[in-house]
Amino acid sequence: MENILDKEIKGIIDAYPEVGKILEEYGIGCAPCSVGSCLMKDIVGIHNLDPQQEATLMYRIEKAVYPGRDIPEPKVDLTKKAAPKKIMYSPPVKKLVDEHVLIKRLLALIPSVVEYIENNVEVDKELVLRCVDFIRNYADKYHHMKEEDILFKYVDENAEIIQVMYKDHDTGRNHIRQVVEGAENGNKAQIKEHLFGYRDLLTQHIKKEDEILYPWIDRQLSDTQVGEMFRRCNEADASVGDELPKKYENFINKLEEKFLKEVVK
Ligand SMILES: [Fe+2]
Ligand SMILES: [Fe+2]
Repeated sequence: MENILDKEIKGIIDAYPEVGKILEEYGIGCAPCSVGSCLMKDIVGIHNLDPQQEATLMYRIEKAVYPGRDIPEPKVDLTKKAAPKKIMYSPPVKKLVDEHVLIKRLLALIPSVVEYIENNVEVDKELVLRCVDFIRNYADKYHHMKEEDILFKYVDENAEIIQVMYKDHDTGRNHIRQVVEGAENGNKAQIKEHLFGYRDLLTQHIKKEDEILYPWIDRQLSDTQVGEMFRRCNEADASVGDELPKKYENFINKLEEKFLKEVVK
């Protein structure tokens, strides 16, 4: 099995597509990943499966790759269900998870914003640009910058999972540039395409961070590092002032009020 563990996952999935399907059953979405240079052993480590799940997963993968081999079946107690894992975040990481909540509230409003724009003759440029302002200054500058400048520095930045996160941040910025261009030109289709593109991207991105990346980083941090990271995150927040998160929370509250009221009408 050592030789499989040391191979890049994309190569394994290309040669044995069944492996991609098996991984997906365990909530490990390697098949659609755009980079794919993770090693098999890193994937198993990053996802932190319980020992029963890991033994069964590795058995099934080995069977898919070497169907002719006599591989002993793992002794798994099928009556014992794996308890759902409750993720415990360190304080600085928990703060980042909490920031995701406000970003997800904006993502949930995007279909209503797009519908409103489509149903009006003129593009409400101010509305689009206010959403862009939230995305650029809260989601990107306030939140993503803490990830890029602080959090990611505590682990191997060349690890594929970190590279994928950087790539997602950049793809998000490109979508938002397109949204601004659409607003400037009154191009509803362009606004729609890229606001939805941003929503789909960030929805998956936040899920990966909350469920996989952040717990993986937390598992590698010593108490001293957690304390240091907490201090650095607090300093970064203090440098922008208390008003910034409050301002953007108010914006989301108002946006929800506007669109929830319209739904009720
Ligand atoms: Fe991120
Ligand atoms: Fe994030």
